Amino acid sequence: MRKSILSASFVLALMTGATAQQATIQLGDTLHAPVVSRHIYGQFAEHLGRSIYDGFYRNGQIRTDIVEALKEIKVPNLRWPGGCFADEYHWRDGIGPKTSRPVRLNTTWGMVEENNSFGTFEFLDLCERIGCEPYIAGNVGTGTPQEMANWIEYLNSDSHSALAEERRKNGHPAPYKVSFWGVGNESWGCGGEMTPEYYAGLFKQYANFCETYPGSPRLKKIASGANSDDYNWTEVAMKNINTSQMWGLSLHYYTLVTGKWPPSGSATKFGEDEYFSAMQQALKMEEIVSKHAAIMDKYDPQKKVALLVDEWGIWAAPEPNTNPAFLYQQNSLRDALIAASTLNVFNNHSDRVRVANLAQTVNVIHSVILTKDDQMVLTPTYYVFDLMKVHQDAKLLPLTITSPDYTFNGQTIKAVNGSASLDSLGKTHITLVNLDPNKEITVTVAVSASPTILASILTAPKINSFNDFGKAPEVKPTVFKGASVKKGVLTVKLPAKSVVAVELK
Ligand code: AHR
Repeated sequence: MRKSILSASFVLALMTGATAQQATIQLGDTLHAPVVSRHIYGQFAEHLGRSIYDGFYRNGQIRTDIVEALKEIKVPNLRWPGGCFADEYHWRDGIGPKTSRPVRLNTTWGMVEENNSFGTFEFLDLCERIGCEPYIAGNVGTGTPQEMANWIEYLNSDSHSALAEERRKNGHPAPYKVSFWGVGNESWGCGGEMTPEYYAGLFKQYANFCETYPGSPRLKKIASGANSDDYNWTEVAMKNINTSQMWGLSLHYYTLVTGKWPPSGSATKFGEDEYFSAMQQALKMEEIVSKHAAIMDKYDPQKKVALLVDEWGIWAAPEPNTNPAFLYQQNSLRDALIAASTLNVFNNHSDRVRVANLAQTVNVIHSVILTKDDQMVLTPTYYVFDLMKVHQDAKLLPLTITSPDYTFNGQTIKAVNGSASLDSLGKTHITLVNLDPNKEITVTVAVSASPTILASILTAPKINSFNDFGKAPEVKPTVFKGASVKKGVLTVKLPAKSVVAVELK
């Protein structure tokens, strides 16, 4: 009798594909491991759609609810004013009394009127309130080296120069000490359709006049980098630009649901086919970062130059009945799983990736916050940044994962990914993601001694569950009880489609 019950459940398991899934993780040590720069957890705010106006900034005021939410996830830096907008932005339009600021057209994003009421002062005030560092992208496409140099002097000089005095007159006596400085954006595309050779020459010219001012930190000059797998761009930049002139080189990679431009696929109405293909595309980040990093290693084996993935995220079709040029999309559990998997890639590559910026923070593409009038929704992706902030400035614990496959329509991806770090208080943090929407996976990790465990989980009933205005959030972290340690082995029963954050002390 007993025998027949066992074999019946085995047959049932085979029929449903519900065989026990196992993954193993080996943790390395921190001896030669890099620090996970907190700046990997950066955000991005462009003058695009409802990001700034009717997003961060409403009725002439910075929204305090947004500021508080971003403080909570410890946003380390905010990139601004674009994006494509950066290469048509003239900083003088956005300083001084608002009544005398000119109205321009935002030609890239819907030809809407830009009244410049949010400019330099307002952006830096926003950063100060959030407690994050500003990352400003200067204009190469339609600006001059002099315009860029003057902006930096206006911001950072503590002298009695006319530009420093102008800043004081405009309400900011102390220099802003801006350090992250982008020299153009997507210069291969909206930033001027340049070849890498032409851009490398321009970078050197512009960067030559971008000064570090006494009392301000070294200006971190960042070259506009490649589009996804354009490895030639990185090769040419590294070959032609002296590493002493370039603090960092950027890289942009967006997850497109079908892998093809233009972005398509609804952010919330999709089945497992679009879920799977989005995951396939998102996981390409590992290969893309590895290959760009390998090229950088050839020219810069000491890894002086940072790789900044300063635009990343899932770019889906805009929501129906919204201005398509505003790139407003909802955000579901799928996007949270993509965010966690991507941040795991960046953590694991933190020897080279020292800055990353999700595109974009509020109301645009892969947002952490959505607003409607004065309401605000924290998206599933917001909670990933909340769960993973523990890795900021911690020592990386390199890991090796053996994962079962997640198979759909005969194609496979690895179901489990993760990253781990050791913080200054001696706590180990492991972030695990199970991309398989149908199967729980048991993950085992050899750990020393018998630590105490705290764990949280982010999951939801459906892959496309999302948080909506006027409703209780469907996707929100909760305490997780499925992790235990016995005889030096941590066992995590990782539910289907989930992110689990484990803390060991
Ligand atoms: O994030 C939206 C746009 O995507 C940015 O403006 C541009 O840099 C990229 O193409």
